[in-house]
This record gives sequence, structure tokens and C-alpha cells, in this order.
Amino acid sequence: MDANDWNSRYETDELIWTIEANQFLVSEVAGLQPGTALDLACGEGRNAVWLAMQGWDVTGVDFASVGLLKAQRLAIESGVTGTWITADATDWTAPTDGFDLVAMLYLQLPASERQKSIRTAVSAMAPDGTILIIAHHLLNLIEGYGGPQDANFLMTPEDVVDDLAAAELGLDVELVVERNERVDRVVQTPDGPRTAIDMLVRARRIDTTKLSPGAV
Ligand SMILES: C[S@@+](CC[C@H](N)C(=O)[O-])C[C@H]1O[C@@H](n2cnc3c(N)ncnc32)[C@H](O)[C@@H]1O
Repeated sequence: MDANDWNSRYETDELIWTIEANQFLVSEVAGLQPGTALDLACGEGRNAVWLAMQGWDVTGVDFASVGLLKAQRLAIESGVTGTWITADATDWTAPTDGFDLVAMLYLQLPASERQKSIRTAVSAMAPDGTILIIAHHLLNLIEGYGGPQDANFLMTPEDVVDDLAAAELGLDVELVVERNERVDRVVQTPDGPRTAIDMLVRARRIDTTKLSPGAV
């Protein structure tokens, strides 16, 4: 789906996703000190707005301007502010300062575009920053509920760890992968509760200026 397709999807007063922040974002961010946060592919802003409500200084990026308008509206209704940028995650140039937290949730792209968006996400990390990538797992296609029904738009934690390694090399930064795993989410459906299978990868960028001379 291109930006026009997403904009058409967002052309409704209701939120097409839930208003609730993603449960894994909530648990992963719990131990972090609020600072600057980027929500790449923020959609209607449920996660960005939740982060802002926790004290983060949030920037939301999405290529669907209609989604961003809804995000902005949600922020105003929630009494918080954010910076909203219409841009393509596969080629956006992030501000050089970097963000303390980069979150990318359910951006389901084919491999070559996924690699580019992950490179963008890594390029946006500040030294000591955290990146959190959550998406529908490849296994969801056969064992789970919802999500894209095309394997090309699904991924494994291993795919994402490989993409992070490629971005690390290309951008000359050092990352430590802290979590890479399958996570299950219960979804309430008209037919009762079902399980959606997600993948979660979390990494931290090493601040190489803090490494002692001779350290490897
Ligand atoms: C499934 S929604 C997820 C939205 C949000 N992250 C969430 O969890 O509620 C996917 C979002 O990715 C955006 N998107 C898809 N491809 C994109 C791209 N190349 N650059 C920026 N945004 C993109 C869509 O516009 C859509 O808002």
C-alpha cells in the first residue's frame, strides 16, 4: 500500500486502530527515563500520544498525512503535544541529534524496504538510545490472528536482527541487541479471544565516546 492507499484508509472519523498504546511498547518503555522519542510510521498516533503522556518529547513520522492529522487531533484531545512529520520511512533523513527512543510498530514492508526503514530508524538513534521494533511475525500467517496475509510483509526477529546488523555496518554505529523474540498478544474478536503472534526486537546504541581507550 502506498501513501494514497493509507490516506484513503484513514479518511474516516473513527480511529482504524485502537486508541490503546501497544502493550509491548508500554512494558518495554517502563524502565526508561523519558527523553526524546521518535515513532516511525506512527499512523493515528496511539503510541506517540501515549509516550507524550508519559513525558516523552515525541516526534511522529508517517507518509500518510491523513493519519498524522488524526494523530495531531488525538494529541490535542489528550492534552499533549508532538511534532508530526509527513515522510517516507525508507528515505527520511533524521535530525542529527538523534532520539533517546526510536519505536517502529507494525510497519510491514517487503524485505528491501524493511531494510531501508530499519536503516532510517537506526540513523535516528542517539548514542545510548534504544530502538524497539514490533511487527506481525511470519508465524502469524499460519498460527495467529489478523495482520497481513502475505508472507512478504511479515518478518521474524532474525530478519530484523540481520537488518540491524547491516544498518550498524553502513552507519558505523554499534548496537547491542537486548531482546529478539516472538511475543503473543490476545485480541478480542467477535468470535472470542484469539492470539496474534508478534515479533519484538529491542537494541541499544553504544555510546562509543564512553568506551575507555583500548576497549573492544
Ligand atoms: C499498521 S499501521 C501502524 C501504525 C502505528 N505504528 C500503530 O502501531 O498504530 C502502518 C503505518 O505505516 C505507515 N507506512 C507504511 N509505509 C510507510 C512508509 N514507507 N513510510 C512511512 N510510513 C509508512 C502507514 O501509513 C501506516 O500508518
